[in-house]
Amino acid sequence: MKQEFKPVHGMWASRWVFILAATGSAVGLGNIWKFPYITGEYGGGACVLLYLVCIAVVGIPIMVAEVMLGRKGGLSPIHSMQRVAQQSKVTRRWGVIGYLGALSGFLLLSFYTVIAGWSLYYVWEGASGVFQGASAEQVQAVFADLKASPWMMLLCHTLFMAMTMGVVARGVNRGLEKAVEILMPVLFVLLIVLVGYAATTSGFADGMRFLFAFDFSKLSGEAVVVALGHSFFTLSLGLGAIMAYGAYMPHQIKDSKTGKAKPVSIGSTVLVIAVIDTLVALAAGMAIFPLVFSNGLEPSAGPGLMFESLPLAFGQLPGGALFSCLFFILVACAAWSSSISLGEPLVAWLVERGWKRWRASLLIGALAWVLGIGTVLSFNIWKDDTFLMGTFFDNIEFISTNIMLPLGGLLIAIFAGWIMKETQARKELAMKNFKVYMLWRAVVRIFSPAAVIFLFGWSMWSTFGPDEEPAKGPPAPVEQQQPAPARAADAPADDARVPAVSEGGVNE
Ligand code: PHE
Repeated sequence: MKQEFKPVHGMWASRWVFILAATGSAVGLGNIWKFPYITGEYGGGACVLLYLVCIAVVGIPIMVAEVMLGRKGGLSPIHSMQRVAQQSKVTRRWGVIGYLGALSGFLLLSFYTVIAGWSLYYVWEGASGVFQGASAEQVQAVFADLKASPWMMLLCHTLFMAMTMGVVARGVNRGLEKAVEILMPVLFVLLIVLVGYAATTSGFADGMRFLFAFDFSKLSGEAVVVALGHSFFTLSLGLGAIMAYGAYMPHQIKDSKTGKAKPVSIGSTVLVIAVIDTLVALAAGMAIFPLVFSNGLEPSAGPGLMFESLPLAFGQLPGGALFSCLFFILVACAAWSSSISLGEPLVAWLVERGWKRWRASLLIGALAWVLGIGTVLSFNIWKDDTFLMGTFFDNIEFISTNIMLPLGGLLIAIFAGWIMKETQARKELAMKNFKVYMLWRAVVRIFSPAAVIFLFGWSMWSTFGPDEEPAKGPPAPVEQQQPAPARAADAPADDARVPAVSEGGVNE
């Protein structure tokens, strides 16, 4: 039976608000936590360059496709996909893209708020001066204590989930829009202040060299896969978050000067978002690595870079207490504007099915909160209960980011390139330059699916293939992990503060 759903969620007030919201979704833990640490692990500049290429040739075209599908459908990703499929005279089963996305968004939300909750704890710790002059052991102990305490982690997780769903419950205009209008300017100002602060430290030149000196000898196949996967994660692609936001994007907007309606172009808007997201990631690197180098720390510390190396570095610098506090406020703001985009697609779907928004938000928030308890316990009580990829958290994280996200991106590219009526896509995108449109189409039809299949195949092979260690398998027991040696070339060799930051980082 044909079901019609009216758009019930409201629209972004302007193109600029859409840009803020989508950038808010894109800029998150991926930029400030993950990008610097994978750059550190995969050798700096070469990895940065790869990442830029992946964003340009895969990320942006798929993001254009996702926003286009969302705006065409005008509803939550599940209903948008069904609707666009219907309009293209193909089976409504293509709605599976929406269901898959909603499920991966839900899984991601459940652990995203746990990790983001750590930033709240660190704001508190930073403000109370715990890191001031602390030794490597003391800083590591702060992180270890947090991970060992299910109650503290649960408290932070609960707070972050409440902050997230509280915004979603208020709706697109009163919640999401208001939140990003405050959070994003705060985030940009904090980032500029922190880069300025990093520029005053002795390690600034080393930090910049590390980020921007492209040493191609360090490129590896694995780095390609990591960079490609991260370009999906950082642009929030493949799970419907951007599709949901695209649904609230107006087709036309009144020009403030002439008063005439002018079309809102998807292509140029997406370009702006991707550029800002990339600049934020680079700026985060510029804020972090100089501090790491000025303190003779190891840039390849892994996931612990932000929660161990950085507070240690701040603690050794003048004004460190204030700036560490500002840094973790920045992380919390970035993660907050991302987590709301993880909650929105499912809530919007329930609202379209007749639920009250606050009830839907409460239900989704409560369910994700319960699932998040599994992640909380993975760092302490269930630490040794490993199966398949490792702990409960390792499994949820692996399935959502390494399997469901690329799969969602692949299906979106296939749908937009091969299944959807070409005339509809062309009309929705309304690109002025036909050659650019044809280029986008070719990329989305051939190049993007091929790249995603490659990524997918590689990560599966390196995880489950013969003679391979699981890529993200159970981490070695803590006592077997070796402290990361300080890199003599980058750091003063006799620096007594070189910490024993372990590679296992977050998953220990
Ligand atoms: N893009 C976010 C980040 O960089 C993560 C995210 C992924 C958010 C997918 C929403 C959807 O942290």
